[in-house]
Amino acid sequence: MTSKTRTPIQLQINGHRHELEVEPRVTLLDALRDHLGLTGTKKGCDQGQCGACTVHIDGQRVLACLTLATQAESRDITTIEGLAGEDGTLHAVQAAFLEQDAFQCGYCTPGQIMSAVACIREGHAGSDEEIREYMAGNLCRCGAYPHIIAAVRQAAVEAAS
Ligand code: FES
Ligand code: FES
Repeated sequence: MTSKTRTPIQLQINGHRHELEVEPRVTLLDALRDHLGLTGTKKGCDQGQCGACTVHIDGQRVLACLTLATQAESRDITTIEGLAGEDGTLHAVQAAFLEQDAFQCGYCTPGQIMSAVACIREGHAGSDEEIREYMAGNLCRCGAYPHIIAAVRQAAVEAAS
């Protein structure tokens, strides 16, 4: 592909501005992983069915595989790399996932955590049932669901206290 087909865009990711050139059809997921080396956001199905690619745009969770990079211009993007503090202190949801052993292979975990952060912020983590419902878009092939729900509950309780 020649550079003529590429469009210069700016993406604001985890508080940092990145300039890149992408073809108009490039997804945010591919821009993050292939153009910017931010590989914490995972590619599972690449069709909007597994949640592995979940990131936040302006605080709302979105599937990066279904979002064009150009659609994310001038908006605030947060990826799993941006959750921990500058000093490396884990976000409360990350810490809860560790404490509750909420992963096995870990492939779904970044997407689970990004969804969980939004789920708690949206006020949809009041019960295990509610968490199951609002986290239903994030699949875990390892079947770590009971531990994932426990982690989200723990983080939600901590956030409320
Ligand atoms: S990779 Fe985006 S939903 Fe599966
Ligand atoms: S921990 Fe392996 S897919 Fe969820």
